[in-house]
Amino acid sequence: MKGRKLKKKPVIVLVCSIILLIVLIIFIVKTVNELNYRKTIEYKLLQQGYNKEEVSLLQKKTDEDFMNSLLEEEYDRVYIDIITEGYYIKNKLKDYVKYYNDHLNASSTEVVTMVNAGANEEWYSHIKDTDLSKDILMINNKFYKLPSDYEPEDLVDVKNWYAYGTNVKLRDEAYNAFIDMFNAAKEEGITLIINSAYRSYKEQEEVYNQYLKNHGQAYTDGVAARPGHSEHQTGLSVDITTYGVTGSQFESTDAFSWLQNNAHNFGFILRYPNEKENITGYTYESWHYRYVGVDAATIIHDSNITFDEYYAYYIENN
Ligand code: DAL
Ligand code: ZN
Repeated sequence: MKGRKLKKKPVIVLVCSIILLIVLIIFIVKTVNELNYRKTIEYKLLQQGYNKEEVSLLQKKTDEDFMNSLLEEEYDRVYIDIITEGYYIKNKLKDYVKYYNDHLNASSTEVVTMVNAGANEEWYSHIKDTDLSKDILMINNKFYKLPSDYEPEDLVDVKNWYAYGTNVKLRDEAYNAFIDMFNAAKEEGITLIINSAYRSYKEQEEVYNQYLKNHGQAYTDGVAARPGHSEHQTGLSVDITTYGVTGSQFESTDAFSWLQNNAHNFGFILRYPNEKENITGYTYESWHYRYVGVDAATIIHDSNITFDEYYAYYIENN
């Protein structure tokens, strides 16, 4: 009896020691983990006021530098709004931040829209060459320029049945799409007439200089593209009118309403819409339509975005 009792004690001591050791190890591991976690950007952002969902968005949609920069400022919901904007482009993050800091009252949509369209920069600054390989989706605006000798290879003569004036030309694909659109409109008693289509660099220079002579630079830059920057040089743009109206009177015609509802089904978009002047750089032109193909035109129409925004997100970003 005595012998057994003596043997039990060391066993109990041993078991207790092991349990204590395990508890100690668990405690040490937990403490080390906790200390390591406190060093993570996730922990620091949570401390800064960002919630778990916001932190995981930041980790997914931004980079280390940006997240570290957030630690130097107070919590700002606008950054979350920016990165969850539908047209957010990760590699433009620095520009979004700069635009936001320069325009503190800007909404996240404005920030993303302006930067994507390049309209955060001064017009005609940072000029790049138009990427001709994009074909019917090539962009030509105040930041993208065509060579002075650029002339599309597939220009065709527009029959004077469809246009005012002579020597009117369009790229083949755009012309065929226009004819389909013309016929569909005609069936509803609407006549679409082309006022102007392809213009060479030289012709655009004449148009621009004429405006410049009569109206000065600021006005001119709002209504006419500088040579090399006009979409008319792509052979993919048409100025459309109908009987009995000139210029902006077109806006109040049935032909204009018809185009608003149908042009995209033929691959055409209204290129310089009302109240988008700050994005396109041009005052509203109810008559200027650009051929981009049905898929792009449908997205642009249905999402109410400009081609400049479309190009940044769907073409350049891919
Ligand atoms: N009126 C348009 C902007 C052009 O000159 O191409
Ligand atoms: Zn035009």
